[in-house]
Amino acid sequence: MLFPEGVAIDGVTGAVTPATGRYVKKLSALRDLYAAPPMVDAFIAEHGDVDAYEVIEYRPDGSDICFGTTIMAPGKIGDEYFLTRGHYHARADRGEVYYTQSGEGLLLLHSRSGEVRVVEMRTGVCAFIPPDWAHRSVNTGGTPLVFVWTCATDAGHDYGEVAARGMRQRAVERNGRPAVVANPNYAD
Ligand code: PA5
Ligand code: NI
Repeated sequence: MLFPEGVAIDGVTGAVTPATGRYVKKLSALRDLYAAPPMVDAFIAEHGDVDAYEVIEYRPDGSDICFGTTIMAPGKIGDEYFLTRGHYHARADRGEVYYTQSGEGLLLLHSRSGEVRVVEMRTGVCAFIPPDWAHRSVNTGGTPLVFVWTCATDAGHDYGEVAARGMRQRAVERNGRPAVVANPNYAD
């Protein structure tokens, strides 16, 4: 039987207490997602293989819903901001909510039929991610980007499509400001 519980979420550190799981993504594991993978190698040679982001989750066994936090380090590879892998959900009928707690970022999305959208990520903005939209977060600020996510436990992650084709959009710095540009390498 499942029992109710209060879970503390620190909006600055992203700590989830109690948590049921967590993982860290090293920058090296994201190398080929960037426009310029050799610049990832150069970054790592200079700064080390940094923790690009961490995901902490509260996913009780047998529950239909789950939530957690993502904590993204600030940084850029050339002019491209630090990013998450990006994915569709394995189930095409499962959406998600991202509620930004601190930091600044952009949520890049595209639909199966090729529509693109960007949702600003800043404190207090709750982003609605409809079912079957690919989504990737980028940290455009100088501090960690921390957001709470929640979705159905059976939503699942399909990373293959985005890994193979890329996202349709990239978030880059232009004249000192974040800009979203079409990804010329997107494999249509
Ligand atoms: O389910 C989600 O959309 C998030 O919890 C992401 O998994 C998280 O932000 C990390 O991104 P990704 O799974 O694309 O690496
Ligand atoms: Ni998702």
